[in-house]
Amino acid sequence: VLALLAPRDLAGLRVLVDAGPTHEAIDPVRYIANRSTGKMGYAIAEAAARRGADVTLVSGPTSLATPAGVRRIDVESAAQMHDAMLAAFEGADVAICSAAVADYTPAAPADHKLKKNREHLDAIRLTETADILAGLCASKGARLVIGFAAETDDLLAHAQDKLERKGADLIVANDVSRPESTFGADTNRVALVSAEGVEQLETMPLAGVADAILDWARQRAAR
Ligand code: CTP
Ligand code: CA
Repeated sequence: VLALLAPRDLAGLRVLVDAGPTHEAIDPVRYIANRSTGKMGYAIAEAAARRGADVTLVSGPTSLATPAGVRRIDVESAAQMHDAMLAAFEGADVAICSAAVADYTPAAPADHKLKKNREHLDAIRLTETADILAGLCASKGARLVIGFAAETDDLLAHAQDKLERKGADLIVANDVSRPESTFGADTNRVALVSAEGVEQLETMPLAGVADAILDWARQRAAR
């Protein structure tokens, strides 16, 4: 019932979101991952759908339910997320990259379960993954591309660097060493870093942070 009363101010806007961690296979039963839960990205997808947007969510492995009205594409690896995001970007007006994409992946994953008394594994050779956010920015034209920066030190300097280096319109920066913005929290305290400057927001529930990011995008999206 409440959803019927919510403003549908994003009607007609096509929003693409990536969320969650990625899993990089070591062998068929083991992988490298990270602490992302996907909650922030799912909150963005949920808020965008509630506000009337057409929403595609490309999700790494999470334990979260698909938000109402959201088209969800499940992926596991950084390479799969990259392919799904580039394909879906064709039909998007705004892309929001909230996923914690692995920066490295095992260079030669084994096709069988590694055995400790046979392979005696003592190192895993890694290779760098493609940067999805930078890839979208390179072909964005009039579309908006928004990224995140989760840092433990020099937050604003790192965010500014990512904004410029990747060519994003906005970097949402949060300090993951603070309890209110750490992995798995139901709140976040973010700064919106763009060419217009830095806007520090208060600590808010994830839904509030999602709405603030979507407000920023709505005011600047070419439609
Ligand atoms: N990102 C991405 N693809 C990657 C790595 C990162 O799309 N292969 C995106 C993230 O989704 C996020 C932004 O880039 O929106 C910043 O991610 P982050 O990990 O903070 O930056 P990196 O460039 O990977 O640098 P580092 O991890 O060394 O801080
Ligand atoms: Ca990274």
